[in-house]
Amino acid sequence: MQSHYDDIADVYDQRYDHRERGRIYYDHIAGAVLGKINPSGHLLDIGCGTGLFLERYLKEGTDRTATGIDISPGMIKKARERYPDLPYVVGNAELLPFESDSFDSISSLLAFSYLQNPGQSLSDCYRVLVPGGRLAVCTLGKNIFTSSLPALYSIGAKMKIRRVGVGSFAEHYYSAKEMYDLLDKAGFEEIEIFKCSFAHFNLAGPLFMIAKKVESFIEDNIPYLAYNLIAAGKKPE
Ligand SMILES: C[S@@+](CC[C@H](N)C(=O)[O-])C[C@H]1O[C@@H](n2cnc3c(N)ncnc32)[C@H](O)[C@@H]1O
Repeated sequence: MQSHYDDIADVYDQRYDHRERGRIYYDHIAGAVLGKINPSGHLLDIGCGTGLFLERYLKEGTDRTATGIDISPGMIKKARERYPDLPYVVGNAELLPFESDSFDSISSLLAFSYLQNPGQSLSDCYRVLVPGGRLAVCTLGKNIFTSSLPALYSIGAKMKIRRVGVGSFAEHYYSAKEMYDLLDKAGFEEIEIFKCSFAHFNLAGPLFMIAKKVESFIEDNIPYLAYNLIAAGKKPE
C-alpha cells in the first residue's frame, strides 16, 4: 500500500485536480465532507495524500488550522509542496500518534477502505477529538461498481499497471449499516450515513455530464448506484 502510493504520488493530482471531470468529482465529495465537520478549528485529515482536502478546508473558511497524516512518505512530500508550513505526520491511521482531545474535526477521503482495523481506527479518532468534535469519512460503498473492483485491481496488479489505486490491497467496501455500526461502537452520536457521487470521473465526457445532471436524484432514490458513502458523527459534549 505504502509503496504503491509512493510510486504514483507524482501522478495522483492528474486524476482529481488537473482534469476537469476529476476536479468536479472531487469537489462533490469534498463538499459533502466539509458540510459535516465543524466550520472552524483544527482539522486532522487522515490519509491526507497530496493535500487536496486540506487545501479546500483551509481555503474555504476562517479560523482554520490543519494536520495531515498519511502512511506514504511520497504522498506527504507532495502535500508539503502544496502547503509547506502545515504539520504532517508519516504514519498509520490505525494508531494515531496524537494526544487525546487534540482536534475539532477529523476528515478522511478515499482512504478508509484500505484500513485493516477500522474499529480500532475510529476508536482512536474518537479519542483524539475534543468533546463536540466531528468526524466525516468518505469511503467507497458496497455497490454495483465496487463489486467488480477487486477482480479488476488484481488483474491490474499482475499486469503492473501504474494507476492510482490499482493493486491487491485487501480493500473493504462498506454497507451503510456496517459504517453506522462502526461509528456507533466507537461512541459517536448524531450519526449520519448517506450515499454520495454517481458521476464518476472515469465516465466519458457526455456520459459524465448526463450522470452529473441526475446525480442528486440517484443519491436520494437509487443509492445502490451511488459510488461513495459519507459517514459522519459527533463526539458527545
Ligand atoms: C486514494 S488516496 C486519497 C488521498 C486523499 N485523502 C485525497 O482525498 O486525495 C488514499 C491515501 O490513503 C493513504 N493510506 C492508506 N492506508 C493508510 C493508513 N493505514 N494510514 C494512513 N494513510 C493511509 C494512502 O497512502 C493514500 O495517500
